[in-house]
Amino acid sequence: MAEDPARGRGRRPVTDDGTAACDPERLRRVRRSYDAWARVYDWFARATASVGGVRAACVRGLDLAPGDTVVEFGCGPGVNLPALREAVGPTGRVVGVDVSTRMLDRAAALVERRGWENVSLVEGDAERPPVAAADGVLATFVTSLFPDSYAVVRRWCALADAVVVAAFAPEGSRPANAALRAFVRLNGRLFDARTGDPLALLAERTAAARRALDDATTVREGQRRLFGTIVIEAGRDS
Ligand SMILES: C[S@@+](CC[C@H](N)C(=O)[O-])C[C@H]1O[C@@H](n2cnc3c(N)ncnc32)[C@H](O)[C@@H]1O
Repeated sequence: MAEDPARGRGRRPVTDDGTAACDPERLRRVRRSYDAWARVYDWFARATASVGGVRAACVRGLDLAPGDTVVEFGCGPGVNLPALREAVGPTGRVVGVDVSTRMLDRAAALVERRGWENVSLVEGDAERPPVAAADGVLATFVTSLFPDSYAVVRRWCALADAVVVAAFAPEGSRPANAALRAFVRLNGRLFDARTGDPLALLAERTAAARRALDDATTVREGQRRLFGTIVIEAGRDS
C-alpha cells in the first residue's frame, strides 16, 4: 500500500502501490497537456461549474456524512473541492489526487484561500491509487483518459464504499452528440484523443467505467445530463 494522504495536509510524491504500471509516456503526455492548459481549464471549469447540475449531483450521489473521508481522482484545479468539503464538514477529510503539477498548484491556491485544514492534495497516478481506503471516491471527466477504465474503476471500488464517476458520452440526440463531437475534436489534447474516432473512444471508456460499477457495487444509479452528453454513474455497497 502507498502512503495514506488522508493523514495530513500538503502535497507529497506517491510511492508504488504494487499495481500494474501504466504507460509512462502516456502519463507524461497527459501531464504536459494539463500543465499547459491549467489556467484556461481552471477558468472554464469554474465558469461552467453549475451547468446541468452535474457536479452537485455527483457529490449527492456519494451520500457523504460529516466526518467522512472522500478522495477525488483527477481533481484538476479543484472545482469539486468546495462541495466535497461542505459534505464532509470540518471533521472529515478531502484528498485530491492529480498527475498535473500546474493543476494541483491551482487547487492548492484554492485550499490556501479558503484556509481548509482538512483538504490534502497528492501528486499521483489515479490509475494506481495512492490511497488505502475512503468512504467515497469521485472522478469527474477523468475516466475517458484511461485506456483500461474498467480496471481503474474496479480498483477504486475496492477502496471505497461509494464511487461516483461523471463522463462525457454520446448518448444524447443527434444535435447534442454532434456538439459533443465538435467539442471533443476542438479539445483533442485534453481528451488525449487526437487520432481515430475520439467520440467512439469516449463511448467505449465510459461504458467500461459503467460496467465496472455494475460488477463491483450492489446499489447502482445512473443519470444523464446536458442533453445526454454527460453521464453520472454512482455505485455503492449496500
Ligand atoms: C478534464 S480534467 C477534469 C478535472 C476535474 N475533475 C474537473 O471535473 O474539472 C482531467 C484531470 O485528470 C487529471 N488526470 C489525467 N490522468 C490522470 C491520472 N492517471 N492520474 C491522476 N490525474 C490524472 C488531469 O491532470 C486533469 O487534471
